[in-house]
Order: sequence, then C-alpha cells, then structure tokens
Amino acid sequence: MRKIIRAEYAGFCFGVRQAIEKAEEAARNSIGDIFSMGSLIHNERVTQDLEAKGIKIINNLNEVSEGDKVIIRSHGEGKNFYDEADIKKIQLVDATCPFVAKIHNLVHDTDKQVVIVGDKEHPEVMGIFGWCRKPALVISSYDEAAAIKEDDLFVVTQTTIREEVLFDVIKALEDKNKVFHVNNTICSATTKRQKSCEKLAKESDIMIVIGGRKSSNTKKLCEISKKFCKNTFFVENIKDLPLKELQKCNRIGVAAGASTPECTIKEVIARMSDVTLENNELNMNDLMDEI
Ligand code: F3S
Repeated sequence: MRKIIRAEYAGFCFGVRQAIEKAEEAARNSIGDIFSMGSLIHNERVTQDLEAKGIKIINNLNEVSEGDKVIIRSHGEGKNFYDEADIKKIQLVDATCPFVAKIHNLVHDTDKQVVIVGDKEHPEVMGIFGWCRKPALVISSYDEAAAIKEDDLFVVTQTTIREEVLFDVIKALEDKNKVFHVNNTICSATTKRQKSCEKLAKESDIMIVIGGRKSSNTKKLCEISKKFCKNTFFVENIKDLPLKELQKCNRIGVAAGASTPECTIKEVIARMSDVTLENNELNMNDLMDEI
C-alpha cells in the first residue's frame, strides 16, 4: 500500500510568513507602488503574486525616490542601508526576521573579532557583516576556521546553516587553542526542518523536496535527504514530479523549504495522490506552533 508522508516540519517559517504579511499590509495601505529590496523570498510563485499586488523588486536605493516605501526582507540589511535610507528620506517597512535582527544586535554590541559561520554570498550574511564594528571573518569549514590568525573570537552563525558545519568550526578552533565564544544562532525552524527531513528520508523509498530553485534552505534539505535516500528529487512545482519513479515506490516522503508556500505543497501532494495512490497518510502540522 502506497503512502505519502509529509515531514513533521515543512513549509513557511515564522520569519517568512511575517515578512509576507508585512509586505501585503504595506501594499494594501499604499496608494502608489512599493518596493522590495531584493526578492522577498526565493520562490517564483510568491514573488509573482507580490508583484501583482504592486510590490516591485529593486536592487539598490538609487532606484527609488524620496518618500517611497521600501520593504526590508526577512534576511535583513546592513547598518549602511538604514543610514542611506534615512539620508534619502525613504520610508522603510522592516520585515527583518527577529532572529536575524538578534544577530545584528549581538555583533554590533561586541568589540571582539566577529566570525560569521555561513555563506559569504548569502544576503543574510552580508547584512550581519554590515552590523559588525570591524570587518568580520566569514567562514564555512574546518580548514577556514583552522587558518584564522586572530584570537578572542566572537562566533555567530547564519540562521540556515547545518549544525555539522558549526561543529566542524568549533572543533578547528579548539584544535588551534583559540579563545572564542560561540553564539549558536542557527534558527530552530531550520533545525526542525532539517531533522524532520532526515528522519523521513531514512524511512522513505523516495523523497520529494519542494521549493524554489534559488532557495538555499531548500537546497540544503535536498542535500540532507540525498545522504539518506538516494532517490531524492527537488521539485519546484507539479511539473517537476518524477511520475514514473513515484509509481515504483511505496513510501513517499515530502519535505519543503521555509520559503515554500502551503498552496504549492498541497498541489504537489494532491498531484501525487491522483497519480499513484490508493491510500494517503498525511501529517498536517499546525505550523504556527512550531517556534
Ligand atoms: Fe527567521 Fe528562522 Fe525563518 S531566522 S526567516 S524564522 S528560518
């Protein structure tokens, strides 16, 4: 008997949901266009929906004029961005996730050498970097941590990195006898999604990981899933479903990134049910209770 089993934690996290609600509220209350600094979330469908509501994407503040409204997405921005908006008299709708804002405060309040464990190209990391009093070191591996020359380090993490990456960094700093203080700022929403994806991948014949192609947290879920279930597929929408593969499998696991809207998850599950299933077992959690 075939079963579709949804990961215990999947889909929008608190921070993404809050950012979308703030953006939609700002759009409702604005007469003219409003702008989002970068794509609000890495999901094509949600981005198109927001554009239809009058929210245009910009890449820097030179693209807007005095009095315009600009939404800061959940990834946050550096201090310079706020200063520039203030000088240009731009109105900000700040949808920075509170967990990211907490990291901004931590790094801004220390005089120590900040080490950010994360991806230096990721907008969240660039935002955190922009709140440090002196240039931070951005690393993501044992070797990079072992090569650090500075001492008395203040370590923070990108909210979406895998815990193993942080553990590798701590090991390297211990091996080099560094003095350091670690703030594990990995978000619990991320950890819960990764752990529930891993658990499900171990029990499934096939894993369907749903999310936008540019969503780094969905890509990480896919990597984790592949470790435990080789038969893992990244799907953005129902068009990507591997229908032939699905028909050969009995236990179908479903995971979804923190930026994947509920409507997409439900459509994918419904399509798989139509095609392959005699019986479904869905674990529909109340996502509001997760944090
Ligand atoms: Fe915030 Fe965590 Fe989501 S940091 S944006 S609640 S993954």
